[in-house]
Amino acid sequence: MNLDELQAKFKDIFNNKNEKIFFAPGRVNLIGEHTDYNGGHVFPCAITQGTYALTRSIPERKLRLFSLNFEDTGIIEIDLDNMKFDSKDNWANYPKGVFHHLEQKGAKFDSGLEILFFGNIPNGAGLSSSASIELVSCIIAKNTYGIDLDMIELVKLSQKVENEFIGVNSGIMDQFIIGMGKKDTALLLDCNTLKYRYVPLILDGYSIIISNTNKKRTLADSKYNERRSQCEAALADIQKVLSIKSLGELTEKEFEKYKHLITDETNMKRARHAVYENLRTLEAVECLTANDLEKFGKLMIASHNSLRDDYDVAGVELDTLVQVALKQKGVIGSRMTGAGFGGCTVSIVKDENIDDFIKNVGKEYQEKIGLTADFYIAHSGDGAHEIL
Ligand code: GLA
Repeated sequence: MNLDELQAKFKDIFNNKNEKIFFAPGRVNLIGEHTDYNGGHVFPCAITQGTYALTRSIPERKLRLFSLNFEDTGIIEIDLDNMKFDSKDNWANYPKGVFHHLEQKGAKFDSGLEILFFGNIPNGAGLSSSASIELVSCIIAKNTYGIDLDMIELVKLSQKVENEFIGVNSGIMDQFIIGMGKKDTALLLDCNTLKYRYVPLILDGYSIIISNTNKKRTLADSKYNERRSQCEAALADIQKVLSIKSLGELTEKEFEKYKHLITDETNMKRARHAVYENLRTLEAVECLTANDLEKFGKLMIASHNSLRDDYDVAGVELDTLVQVALKQKGVIGSRMTGAGFGGCTVSIVKDENIDDFIKNVGKEYQEKIGLTADFYIAHSGDGAHEIL
């Protein structure tokens, strides 16, 4: 749907013209998976698909919200004097959570808003549609009510919404890249210190292809929280001897020297992934900077194998999609991306081979798994902003 069509929809639904338009992207993580909450590095980029939001101020202290992705739910009304989580409010808990936490930080809402949301990232595909709604809501509120918080503060607030309001114990990667992304770059973030650096994403004749398993991410949240606790337990074992704050501080040598302290074998594997994945991420960024795409691809494959074997979050759908992709001509790397348990893979494919890639991978995946995969060419885009 283009902007004109969205404006016409707004008028249909709310009987008035919208005043402003905002956008927040989705994201794809190139490497550095399940490292953010372990104090390691991540290397995602924002994509040009995301969430559009059209707004109009209204005098009543209410949010009147409509999503074109959940049309059946109709307009959801949120009373700005009563912003408690309510499962009945469904997806609208994300904007509600943002307004609630902004209020806790001292924001004053003397009027309300009508907002039309439209997302062109598939929901639940692991491309961060929820963080995208959080950040678009943040910049709507900042812009409308003149809230004096910078983007990094909004990023942290959005993570808080996810952790405390929604109840998913996620790290900071998604909100950070969705707030801070920059066109034609990927972002290297040290999740321990929040120091970051933009790295030009020049793939000379290659493209980033996102492949969607279309497998529903069941159990994703509970398994996610379980992985997190396993890493915390492993860290606690190591802390008996070493004074470190996170697994992300460990070098390969240190980990190999102290891993025997981790009493549980499964926890040891989880920690091994976290430590090696962090080191791989730093190496991958160096490869990209040195234009060594081949090596970058090899590190992506190593990342996938570790997520499958040590972290156990790939599952047959994601792994099949990766293995089939790696057999194709012009593919230099492929891995699962995001939390796992379904969702998407990311592959780097030579431009002239993209059509065959989509045809062949789609066919073989369908034969092996019985699901139809979707494919998107990803372009790196800007973080959350107003569209003027
Ligand atoms: C989800 C979380 C992120 C991160 C990834 C795994 O996307 O929201 O914080 O932990 O999983 O890398």
